[in-house]
Amino acid sequence: MERIKNYINGKWVDSKSGETFRSTNPANQGEVIGIVSKSDREDVDRAVKAAQGTYEEWRLTPAPRRGEILFRAAEILLRNKEFLGKLETREMGKVLPEGLGDVQEAIDMGYYMAGEGRRLSGETVPSELPGKDMKSVRVPIGVFGLVTPWNFPIAIPAWKIFPSLICGNTVVFKPSSDTAVCAAKFVEALVEAGLPKGVLNLVHGPGGEVGEYLVSHPGVDAISFTGSFDTGKRLEGICGAIHRIIVTEMGGKNAIIIMDDANLDLAVEGAIWGGFGTTGQRCTAASRIVVHKKVYQKFIEKFKTAASRLKVGDGLQKGTDVGPVINESQFNKILKYIEIGKKEGAKLILGGKAYQKGNCSKGYFIDPTIFTEATPEMRIAQEEIFGPVVSVIKAEDLEDAIQIVNRTPYGLSSAIYTQDVNSSAIAERDLDTGIVYINASTIGAEIHLPFGGIKRSGYGRKEAGGRGGALDTYSRWKVIYRDFSGQLQKAQIDK
Ligand code: UN1
Repeated sequence: MERIKNYINGKWVDSKSGETFRSTNPANQGEVIGIVSKSDREDVDRAVKAAQGTYEEWRLTPAPRRGEILFRAAEILLRNKEFLGKLETREMGKVLPEGLGDVQEAIDMGYYMAGEGRRLSGETVPSELPGKDMKSVRVPIGVFGLVTPWNFPIAIPAWKIFPSLICGNTVVFKPSSDTAVCAAKFVEALVEAGLPKGVLNLVHGPGGEVGEYLVSHPGVDAISFTGSFDTGKRLEGICGAIHRIIVTEMGGKNAIIIMDDANLDLAVEGAIWGGFGTTGQRCTAASRIVVHKKVYQKFIEKFKTAASRLKVGDGLQKGTDVGPVINESQFNKILKYIEIGKKEGAKLILGGKAYQKGNCSKGYFIDPTIFTEATPEMRIAQEEIFGPVVSVIKAEDLEDAIQIVNRTPYGLSSAIYTQDVNSSAIAERDLDTGIVYINASTIGAEIHLPFGGIKRSGYGRKEAGGRGGALDTYSRWKVIYRDFSGQLQKAQIDK
């Protein structure tokens, strides 16, 4: 068991109050992964002060030098990949191959952003006047407050921290309390890589208190948040009222369309991976499968058979497909949604209850659950459940399927399985989501294109990617005009 402290101004420190909380294993509540410092406002004040204090120095550190530190951090993460992957499984529950994938996503982002240290390019364009040049340059925004969730305990912090740092911002990082140990290990890699003190500060504590205080702190310049819509919307309100930049990455009600000409076995694999991978706890999870009426019955049979073969259990055990859900409140919420689905009249064909065989009674396990005969308006087909619950909906044709997909308050990810080039082109054009997959599931975005959605799925700029994505999120444009003609020249007037 680890004792996890805050990291403020280059030192690992207890919270002022000395209070702590526990981070436990969702597969086995008896196992404590870490005893974590519980912070309050005073700790946030200190962290923000440290980030402000070092901002000038970091801003003026050449970006290639900043990039070298990121590169070293990625190397350290790679060296520790096995350890970190297992830690993720123990602290958050995802099965080990996915834990390793999560760490890999952070490594990818580290290398990618390290390279940006030698790019961060702007534009140079000709002036309409002689003896004058003009360009746009990327500059940092200031102190970033970063608030991250538990479902990608290392990858999502990496999505936010690496681009923040390469662009020259300093950071106060508030991770989810459910994965505080993973967050601390990620920060350790940057410390070992030689990040100067004060540039990255870590504060643990409850979101409602510590997170919200950070978001509204007068010393912070911009916020990036990933988490639920309800929290994100509240934070958007706080930031709107104080004229502060915020980026929110929130939920999804992602769907896969399966057309009558689809390779059905491939589509079933995609539905299993998207619906039950990470125990359905991805914001990109495929919680709805919209199936063309001609293959609806056949798909359901194959899907049910494949899902009933999934092995539920501790993610450290080889061969486990579906780990536990994160905590008691999520566990109860998912079970509540299963009851709602039954009451709404959807047909429960698989699962539908907690899974408590053997050692699983010690954790928060839920059987992979499938509802069929779901209609697009049902709550289980509209609201984000964030668990291993998938609703299958019948569609008349492509147009109907696309409308069903688009008719939710979310718009993060969608997918279509078809062999028809025209159907895929129409889907690509008309699906109203930030990400569209063709003949692949709704999950598995790569880090070098922008990631994010519309409607309740996100607000403001996007995560990941470079230009048009993370670099635009974590820097701002400054435009420079330089007149070396030695005369007053009037744009738009002098010819
Ligand atoms: C999330 O679900 O919060 O595209 C992030 C994916 C992963 C990231 C998911 N690369 O599924």
